[in-house]
Order: sequence, then structure tokens, then C-alpha cells
Amino acid sequence: MAIGPSPENSARERIAPTCRIDQPANCGLVIFGASGDLTRRKLIPALYLLYRHRLLPRGFFLLGAARTGMDSDRFREMVRRELPDDCDEGCWQQFARIIHYRSMDYGNVESYRAGLAEALPPLEKENGTGGNRIFYLATPPSVYEDVINTLHASGLANEHARIVIEKPFGSDLETGRQLNRMLLRAFREEQIFRIDHYLAKETVQNILMFRFANSLFEPLWNRRYIDHVQITAAETIGIEQRAGYYEAAGVLRDMFQNHMFQLLALTAMEPPSLFSASRVRDEKAKVLQSIRPFPLDRLREHIVTGQYGSGSVEGEQARSYREENGVAPGSTVPTFAAMKVWIDNWRWQGVPFYLRSGKRLRRRSTEIAICFRPAPHMMFSQSLGGGISPNALILRVQPDEGISMQIQAKHPGSRMCLMPVAMDFSYQRDVTLSAYERVLLDCMEGDQMLFVRDDGVELSWGLLSPAISAMETGRRTETHIYPAGSAGPAAADSLLEKDGRKWRDL
Ligand code: BG6
Repeated sequence: MAIGPSPENSARERIAPTCRIDQPANCGLVIFGASGDLTRRKLIPALYLLYRHRLLPRGFFLLGAARTGMDSDRFREMVRRELPDDCDEGCWQQFARIIHYRSMDYGNVESYRAGLAEALPPLEKENGTGGNRIFYLATPPSVYEDVINTLHASGLANEHARIVIEKPFGSDLETGRQLNRMLLRAFREEQIFRIDHYLAKETVQNILMFRFANSLFEPLWNRRYIDHVQITAAETIGIEQRAGYYEAAGVLRDMFQNHMFQLLALTAMEPPSLFSASRVRDEKAKVLQSIRPFPLDRLREHIVTGQYGSGSVEGEQARSYREENGVAPGSTVPTFAAMKVWIDNWRWQGVPFYLRSGKRLRRRSTEIAICFRPAPHMMFSQSLGGGISPNALILRVQPDEGISMQIQAKHPGSRMCLMPVAMDFSYQRDVTLSAYERVLLDCMEGDQMLFVRDDGVELSWGLLSPAISAMETGRRTETHIYPAGSAGPAAADSLLEKDGRKWRDL
């Protein structure tokens, strides 16, 4: 059974979405770390697509800044290499004209004055940006402090400036607070855009639309009808070339402090009175405030961690985490975690939220499963012999983005049989903006809805930091080895089995 755009209205132009279209005001984008990996892999392709689809402001320029010594022409060559070979030559030539570069020393005020402070005014005048500037920190976190402080000291962080910053926002509560304090010395909170790229995923934004634009689900969205919620972010990839970062982070800092807790907050929050950044972020903060702290003396009952051993993922041999380049041979850093979270408020009292995320798992799948209570009285049990699975609503974040409602229906035929069926809605892939296109566009528009506020960062660190430190220092949990290509360690299953539940299949 399928619902969704019917064949006759499935063409993009025939869908009449109710949408908001804003043309961002003219602005300049300064990317620090312009010769680095993030710029090349994510930002350049996203900017080019925005340019090609005429979504950038009319007056716009990109000024790359990095330590690498090169001129604007060499930078343009670098940018060109990141675009598909067959990209339209005319379009590229025009795009190239808005690209510039300055090499600089991140911590040196003079370098900012001689480099950026000289380069910006003529570009701003030519493009009529009125001083609207976005500073994007695409550098390693180790230089955040230098860049932020020097932007402040050089006077470039003016009242029209915005700053975009990528995770990690510190490595625990204290360093998270320090980073916030440093940012707030140079910028106001309204100027700070902390990226959680999960929030920019089309399907994650849809959680709010789905919950609050339909009257059907909200009455059921509470402890009376929902038995539990499962949030899964399973990856098939390993740590790739990021051992240096990952050995210090592990899955709890890498995925839970940000993406997983944000998904949880969007799923559990109360309806905001207005669809505005501050109201939505207020409601998310209230959820994080209501999460019950993990009991440090009984951590094993709430958090299970694991690390991938060798195995086979999607038919390919995969080595173990400890064999990855740059990983310590006896490392106990977790690449998988599963946890049970309680939200102590009226709506969710007694409803466990089970979260799991890991690398090198059987299948790539990010989803939120709302598992409803069984029907109160099963009048079919005598004729059917029981075993009827309760309803579930699955919000599929990726891949195969969409929504699926799992219900019971009569099996056609003479015998009395039930069968589980799914009502399925699938997104059309060609109408989606990538997460980085979305992030860049929203920042140009000054819309902070999809960005994390200072309290969001600190509240989630406040919950996780004590648990992480108890695990790292007191060994309050053990890191279970699981075979690459599996669904994670068996201990994660017992987390639910103890409660008489089981994970959805991976
Ligand atoms: C990043 C993490 O934030 O998210 C990575 O640092 C992870 O470890 C990635 O692989 C997952 O993002 P996505 O969009 O591929 O689900």
C-alpha cells in the first residue's frame, strides 16, 4: 500500500507545496580553512549548486582564507577540481568570478588587518553587501580560539557579521562552556550559527512539520499511546582517516552529544507556539532539561558501549577498529553505544527512549521508530493465536527518506488471517537540498532554526559528560567487541530484553 504523490501529480512542477521562499540579502562568505577537507568535500559543491540553482544572493562573494600560501587563481583551480568534470563551463566561468583567496596566519591580528581587512571592503562595495559578512570556521577545532579572538581583536566581527562553527563544541561540559564564552565575547548569540548537520537534513526538519502540521498524530504522541521510542543511527563506514579525532571522541561525543540528542529533542518536544528559531529552541531545551541524569553507580543498566572487531560489511572484508591506522592497539574507545533515556515530564513519564548508534554495522539506517502500545483488548487472539505486533510509525531519516506507518490488515482470502502492512511515503530525491546547501542558505537568511543554541550544547554535555567521565576513568562499563557487519554487541539487545522489548531489525 502506498500513499504519496500519485503518478499524475508526481512531476515536480505539479506539486503545489506550501512553502516559504526568501531571497537572502547580499552578503560575503569568508571561509577559514579554505584549503581543507571540509571546504573541498562539502562547502564548495554546496555553494556551486546554490549558485547554479540561483539560490545565492544577487550580490555575493566567497573569500577563502587559510594558512596555505596561494593566490586567488590557484584557489579557483582547487575549487574547479572539486566540481564534476562535466559541469557547465559557462556556469563555472561565472562562478569563478565570485571566488577570491587570501593566505593568512590565524592567530595574528596584523595578518587579519593586512589580509581580510584590506580585501573585504572593495569586495563588499562591489557586491553591495552593506557589510553583511559570514565567517565560516572550516578549520580544525584547535584553531577556533585563535580565529575567534583575532576576529574580535581586529574589529572584523562587526555587528553585521555572523559566525558559523562546526562541531565538536568542546569535548565535555567545561570545554563546551569555554567555547561558548569565547564566542559570546566576540559575537551576540543571534550572530552565532552552530551547525548540527543532522538538523539540516530534509527528513529531520520534517519531524516538526509532520508532528505539528497534521492533527492526526499529536493526540497520540504521549505516554497513553506510545510504549517506547527507538532512535537509530547506524553506519556501515568505519572511522575512515579520522583516528586522531575519533580516538579522543568516541561515539558518545561524536554522535550522541549532538545528532542523537537533537533527534530525541525534536521527537519529544512540546509544540512551540510559533515556528520561530527561539520558540523551537526553547522547547528543545526543555526536553533536554527534563532528561533524567544517568545513575553513575548503575551505568551499565542504561548505557552499553561496543567497538567493532573485524568482519564483513556489505560483502567487503573490514578490519577491526584497533587495526585502523592511528588507533592504539589496545584502545577501548567505543564506536557503538546504546542507551536508555527517561524524560521526566508529564507527556513522557514511563516511556523509555532507546538510542543506538554505531559504525561498521550491518546496514546504513537512521530512523526514529515510534512504537505504539498494543491494542487494549485483542478480540482476535482466540481465532488467530496471538502474536500481533503493535503499530509503529517509522520516520526514515536516511537512506530511502520517508515515513512508514505499520499497521495490521486482513490477509485477503477465505481464512481469517492478519498481516502487517505498511503505508509508505517516500521523498522524491530530486527535490531535496543537501544538508550543507540548507545550512549555508539559512545562515545567509539569518534563520537560526536549524542551528544549536548555547544552552542546547551545554545541556547535552551536562547529561553526557558525567557518564563519559565515569566510563573513561572508573571503567563503569565495558566496551564489548562486535563483529563488523553485525547489528552491534549482544549486550545492547539485553538493554531492551530486560524491559521485555527488542530492537527493530537492522
Ligand atoms: C558526523 C560524525 O558528525 O556525522 C561522523 O562526525 C558520522 O562520524 C557522520 O559518520 C554521519 O553523518 P551522516 O550525514 O553520514 O549520517
